[in-house]
Amino acid sequence: MATNNNNQIIKTLVDKYGRDRTSLMPILQGIVEQKNYLSDTDMTEVARELDLSAAQVYGTATFYSFLDTVPRGKYVIRVCKTITCDMHGKKLIVQTIENMLKIKVGETTQDKKFTLLQTNCLGWCHKGPSMLINDEVYADLTPEKTHEIIAEYMNK
Ligand code: FES
Repeated sequence: MATNNNNQIIKTLVDKYGRDRTSLMPILQGIVEQKNYLSDTDMTEVARELDLSAAQVYGTATFYSFLDTVPRGKYVIRVCKTITCDMHGKKLIVQTIENMLKIKVGETTQDKKFTLLQTNCLGWCHKGPSMLINDEVYADLTPEKTHEIIAEYMNK
């Protein structure tokens, strides 16, 4: 059953990181790694295990935009929207991706393969515009380069 599976994932992570408050982030990250997102049930379960309120867990999860709280695609694309990348043509990058995947920022493709998001500075400003696809950084982007990268993922 899905719930038992979830519980198992959470239990394993809690056993690994401990029940201390400082374990909250690694546990939440571990859940996202395995399931691609954090459901309300997961957050409540983690709160119970760590003896925190659900609001505390939820607050932490939503503060860190990297901890997705809604289902996402297999590949989560995060285009930096902060000023340097913005000035270096981020808009064209977003448009290129939107046209290729036929989705808008914030949406997931129907086949659940891609989610397109914008994010704050990724620390690659000197090579902006930049984006992340899952954990992979892509910098110095041009519409052409972006097209190639996305096409590669589409064929995966
Ligand atoms: Fe885009 Fe810093 S402004 S990576």
